[in-house]
Amino acid sequence: MTSPTPTLPGQPFFAYRNGQLMAEDVAVADLARTHGTPLFIYSQAAMLSALAAYQRGFAGRQALICYAMKANSNLAILQTFVQAGCGLDIVSGGELERALRAGVDPAKIIFSGVGKTRTEMRRALQVGIGCFNVESLPELDVLNDVAINLGLRAPISLRVNPDVDAKTHPYISTGLKGNKFGIAHTDALAAYRHAAALPGLHVKGIDCHIGSQITETSPYLDAMDRVLDLVQAIEAAGIPIEHIDFGGGLGIDYHGDTPPAADALWQQLLAKLDARGYGQRKIVIEPGRSLIGNAGICVTEVLYGKTGEAKNFLIVDAAMNDLPRPAMYEAYHAIVPVTPRTGEASTWDVVGPVCESGDWLGRDRTLNAQPGDWLAVASAGAYCMSMASTYNTRGRAAEVLVRGHQTHVIRERESTDDQLRLERPLTD
Ligand code: LLP
Repeated sequence: MTSPTPTLPGQPFFAYRNGQLMAEDVAVADLARTHGTPLFIYSQAAMLSALAAYQRGFAGRQALICYAMKANSNLAILQTFVQAGCGLDIVSGGELERALRAGVDPAKIIFSGVGKTRTEMRRALQVGIGCFNVESLPELDVLNDVAINLGLRAPISLRVNPDVDAKTHPYISTGLKGNKFGIAHTDALAAYRHAAALPGLHVKGIDCHIGSQITETSPYLDAMDRVLDLVQAIEAAGIPIEHIDFGGGLGIDYHGDTPPAADALWQQLLAKLDARGYGQRKIVIEPGRSLIGNAGICVTEVLYGKTGEAKNFLIVDAAMNDLPRPAMYEAYHAIVPVTPRTGEASTWDVVGPVCESGDWLGRDRTLNAQPGDWLAVASAGAYCMSMASTYNTRGRAAEVLVRGHQTHVIRERESTDDQLRLERPLTD
């Protein structure tokens, strides 16, 4: 078997030139040599090109793109999106502080999530965020209370659960009845009446988010119909809705996936909004993965080739603590050689050094690789570094951002001292 020409699905900014994988105009091998592995490499041009698709889709409309920073919250990544005009979707007090440090206008922050604490609410109110996406009736009452105590009014949307099947992995599907997220659309009108009567709240909008890695247009169109039905009913009850937040969720190409392009998706959604008379309403969206997922790769070094009766294992220096998606969701990430070899390839399970059978990065992959070679794990920009852990006391990887010929280290490799800093050994 000869190695097929490697490709990185959906990642045109990571391409082969003269037999070398490049990140824009920088050789990935040079970055691995200089910064060590595992190493996350991001292309700023890829990020801006993904954002441009949304911006084209919304040309001439009132729209705010709030990057869902849970996908990847490195400060330099946030700065890139913020400086390009984005707001940020946050889900914790920690993300709020990161967002502020990245220089975002607080009025462009949307605070999502089912479990906001009073402390988080207080800080968000004090800095003047744009909107709280409230997910339950008890949360409405607590936010009202917190706002009154500060002498402020909290801008809110209710996250409604449209009961639409996003047709994605059950762990990342959020818009169905059985999910913990949002307020059932059948209860939404009553919840809006309740919210409008609370003096510490100011109803601004409506919100929904039906899931992640969505590759079809129809769930979005169905959710939009349901949300617009609600807007109609809520406004008929005398409660104006300034903005409609359609959440995030658009998928990316990991392995031959064919999600709609952001501009094509929004062309259809805006046509529906126009047809129903809401075309001039302010739109908010919260995309995460579709802005950063295919703007990143993770480079790892092959440590050992272990051949066996049932399986061959390629043991590499990245693991489930760096790239948790395969272990958590059986997710597929393409794995390609940084400098392809000619000659015979074999079939391998690519696994990490962590002491768990679930520590695999790819199964049954055809690769021609030797110890010391570098491999690139593709589509690693979203939900990899942001979900990384220090399991097995492994330091988290370094991250670099490439801009044309330039490289910026945007996070140093985590040392064991960094990890031990907060621990207090017993002294007797
Ligand atoms: N808004 C809300 C309220 C969300 O819960 C999420 C993602 C987003 C926006 C952004 O969704 P995106 O555009 O990235 O699909 N760790 C999983 C994905 C979890 C998504 C959680 N919520 C994974 O690696 O696939």
